[in-house]
Amino acid sequence: MSIDLAGLTRQLELLRDEILAAAAAAPDLASLERLQIDVLGRKGRLTAVLRGIGSLPADDRPKVGAVANAVRAAIEAAVAERREALRAEAIATRIASERVDVTLPGRPVPRGSRHPIPETIAAIAEVFGQFGFVVYEGPEVETDVHNFQMLNIPLDHPARDLWDTLYVDLDGYLLRTHTSPGQIRVMARERPPIRALLPGRCFRYEAVDASHGFEFFQVEGLMIDEGTSMADLRGLLDEFAGALFGAGRATRFRPGYYPFTEPSVAFDVRCVVCDGAGCPACSRTGWMTILGAGMVHPVVLQYGGLDPERYQGFAFGMGVERIANLRHAVADLRYYLENDLRFLEQFR
Ligand code: DAH
Repeated sequence: MSIDLAGLTRQLELLRDEILAAAAAAPDLASLERLQIDVLGRKGRLTAVLRGIGSLPADDRPKVGAVANAVRAAIEAAVAERREALRAEAIATRIASERVDVTLPGRPVPRGSRHPIPETIAAIAEVFGQFGFVVYEGPEVETDVHNFQMLNIPLDHPARDLWDTLYVDLDGYLLRTHTSPGQIRVMARERPPIRALLPGRCFRYEAVDASHGFEFFQVEGLMIDEGTSMADLRGLLDEFAGALFGAGRATRFRPGYYPFTEPSVAFDVRCVVCDGAGCPACSRTGWMTILGAGMVHPVVLQYGGLDPERYQGFAFGMGVERIANLRHAVADLRYYLENDLRFLEQFR
């Protein structure tokens, strides 16, 4: 059997040219893959030719084989080249679509600031924390029992007039008028020695003006131990006044009245505006009252589950707005709850 060598060679070259053109035009990797299988795969068009070589006369085999191998090499090279080109194209497209301009200025992150009330509470807690006082919190909706009765203010007692109270619909409950009920809750929970600080929101039925809100903040302090005295209270409060308003600030105790302390005092600091000369901020007295305090009444200790023969303690309570006013020269406490950014942004 003789074969038409020239014809076969021509046929292979035609196949090569066709496939090279198709490879160069393959629109994507998948169609290139299909083309490769079509030609070089197990049932591919070139594979069929190569397989046929075995049945050729021995003399013709090398010649046809050489041509076929050259054709295969050309096709493989063309496919590899196109594959590379398609990959590069895909990467270029992706880079173009995901381009970021690293030279653009960053978007500014709006920076907030601490509200002056929590900021002041933190400053107060920081000072008392150095003396071992631990922060607790009591509920804003309190029982009449905690807010009044266990603080030595019985039902129908005239001392209730000191706190204009907002009641809630639930019988026996009210919005706490001060943080003092926290004293009872701490005593019920802890054994002496107790050093507790109780910051929190309080509520009163008040006509609102520059120095009165129906909603405001207090920080309560309570210390209970054996042998605690008024001198300990005074020493502690002097340290506090010095830390907040400048070391060595003059202070004084004035007699006061609270049902839950005996004796009771008002604690004054030398006016932080005029330093004692007398000004409108201190009503020309040269002094500013910053808190109420006293030795915990024995009845209150008993309600707290403590034996007044063994334990004594002192308590104090201060209005946070008043102290924040002094720290930041704010003249009207209504600003604190208005959420006006023009006010709040000044505390950055
Ligand atoms: N609870 C008082 C008030 O709201 C403040 C106060 C006075 C708290 C004397 C105390 C204290 O713990 O000992 O007016």
